[in-house]
Amino acid sequence: MEKILVLDFGGQYDQLIARRVREQRVYAEIRYFDRITTDEIVREGYRGVIFTGGPNSVYDPASPHFDPAILDAGVPVLGICYGAQLTAYMAGGEVSAADNAGEYGRTLLKTGESALFRDVPAESVCWMSHTDFISRVPEGFRVTARTEKCPCAAMEDEARRLYAVQFHPEVTHTEFGRRMLRNFLFGVCGCAGDWKPENYAESMIERYRSDLAGKKVLLALSGGVDSSVAAVLLHRAVGQALTCVFVDHGLLRKGEGDAVEQTLGRELGVNIIRVNAGERFLSKLAGVGSPEQKRKIIGAEFIRIFEEEARRIGHVHALAQGTIYPDVIESGKGASAVIKSHHNVGGLPDVISFDEIVEPLRELFKDEVRAVGTSLGIPAELVRRQPFPGPGLGVRVTGPVTKEKLDSLREADAIFREEVDKLPPERRPDQYFAVLTGVRSVGVMGDARTYGFTAALRAVSTDDFMTAEWTRLPYETLERASSRITNEVPGISRVVYDISSKPPATVEWE
Ligand code: XMP
Repeated sequence: MEKILVLDFGGQYDQLIARRVREQRVYAEIRYFDRITTDEIVREGYRGVIFTGGPNSVYDPASPHFDPAILDAGVPVLGICYGAQLTAYMAGGEVSAADNAGEYGRTLLKTGESALFRDVPAESVCWMSHTDFISRVPEGFRVTARTEKCPCAAMEDEARRLYAVQFHPEVTHTEFGRRMLRNFLFGVCGCAGDWKPENYAESMIERYRSDLAGKKVLLALSGGVDSSVAAVLLHRAVGQALTCVFVDHGLLRKGEGDAVEQTLGRELGVNIIRVNAGERFLSKLAGVGSPEQKRKIIGAEFIRIFEEEARRIGHVHALAQGTIYPDVIESGKGASAVIKSHHNVGGLPDVISFDEIVEPLRELFKDEVRAVGTSLGIPAELVRRQPFPGPGLGVRVTGPVTKEKLDSLREADAIFREEVDKLPPERRPDQYFAVLTGVRSVGVMGDARTYGFTAALRAVSTDDFMTAEWTRLPYETLERASSRITNEVPGISRVVYDISSKPPATVEWE
């Protein structure tokens, strides 16, 4: 299979680069710079390597470097930002710190003749974010683009197929970034572009059909998109040998648990054991106000219940998980592992005995998981659901959770989503939901005074959820949501709209 290597030097855009490559139907893998050698890159037959950006300066002794032999290995290289400076440094050029504090944001780019800039106008906008720059181009290279402040915004050694760009072609602010990446993939690396996540799923199904033949497989179904898609995929491979334990913690959105059970279980035939454990979670959460503690309690209880059910099933050969690519990368990066444990319910159960872990989606990004889900016949309402935290509504009721608060929140959230869903798809935010704040306030209904809770509406637009902007929803949408919530949901007498972006706020309130 043709593939591209994204060699990660600690930049924040490694996943975005891999996604951009995969959007062109070329399979891309991310490896941290110290987890692979030049020999392995050659042996594994990568069609090309992309060096990512990174926060360091190449002269900093702590900065990540790579074996310069890669430049003579016959594999095309595209260096981006820090990756460009590193290419220059490794090839014998020079990198300096800009006197005028660098370039940040949208910048006019002037490009010359280059395979990388085929069909790119001589002047276009690129996205810059750097203080250092390539001050002397290495031997064999020539400058192919400039900006006002940057004498070498791009350089190349055509003979060795080495390319470097100071700007970020992967971000949408670079007008012709996609075209440049296409030029690299197809023009320089000679890729064919025939990769599709659906084909990938088909090959996984084939593989598991033979690898897991006659063996029992167990999967913890959380109700979310990833574990649902993993369940259906494995069901295609091993049928009734797969048992899914669906722990419904009572913290799902309105109707969600039933929809998952109905669609996956009754319509698609997946073998599901649903455990309605809402009461149990509520009693564990009683009186607990700290977000971190709530997350821990929910995670631990989830695992405990899963273990209890699994014990009844007895020995299974494989434990299946809906791990997706971003989870894998995050856990592979040292410090980022913390993000994963924070973001996922629980961990691996430790009292279940199994011989193997099966993770059919571990090579896929979220949008690819959705494409696979659709190709497996899971309806759009389930596959297109917004991201939802593992601890569910438990972290959307601020402070201590009660059944009444959860019920009010579920209704308010459903109303808000219904109103936003009336907007045309292109105007909808990337994530939108309601939060039940702990704030109570005085209101008036008819002639009576009320003292109800305040619901906060949250809607954000984002590419990757690492940063997010609050969405400028039409006033009419907010108005309808507010009026319906205060009228239809008992216990809520005030609605506010959250206008904080991330950073400094996070998407979730807890
Ligand atoms: P924050 O609140 O960190 O959220 O800005 C970023 C994105 O991650 C989702 N999120 C979670 N997802 N388990 C998950 O699987 C979690 O514990 C969790 N917490 C936050 C959040 O909904 C947003 O999309």
